[in-house]
Amino acid sequence: MALGEWEERWQQNKIGFHQPEVHKMLKKNIDKVLNGRTGVRFFFPLCGKAVDMKWLADMGHAVVGVEISEKAIRKSGVLHQRRRHTNYLCDSKK
Ligand SMILES: C[S@@+](CC[C@H](N)C(=O)[O-])C[C@H]1O[C@@H](n2cnc3c(N)ncnc32)[C@H](O)[C@@H]1O
Repeated sequence: MALGEWEERWQQNKIGFHQPEVHKMLKKNIDKVLNGRTGVRFFFPLCGKAVDMKWLADMGHAVVGVEISEKAIRKSGVLHQRRRHTNYLCDSKK
């Protein structure tokens, strides 16, 4: 899909691809992923407004997401956003 088509989907709220719950495999395996670590930095390319990002940020981890749609970033609940070329970069830095 072209970038403009993604933007259009967000503007028209045609976001059937959005998952409203944290991914069940991430939830199930989070202890294995963390392996006792705190303050882990997670990267979410093509993040949309994935709720997984806020879930991890609320646990104290750093989250960086890259997304073309400003609307998606605004709705992600992740704190900061910066424009980088054609993409928005959002992160959980306080
Ligand atoms: C399948 S969706 C991801 C949805 C996300 N998991 C959620 O639950 O909201 C793919 C996302 O990638 C974004 N996207 C597509 N191509 C991109 C690109 N080249 N750069 C940045 N974002 C892009 C779209 O706007 C869309 O939000």
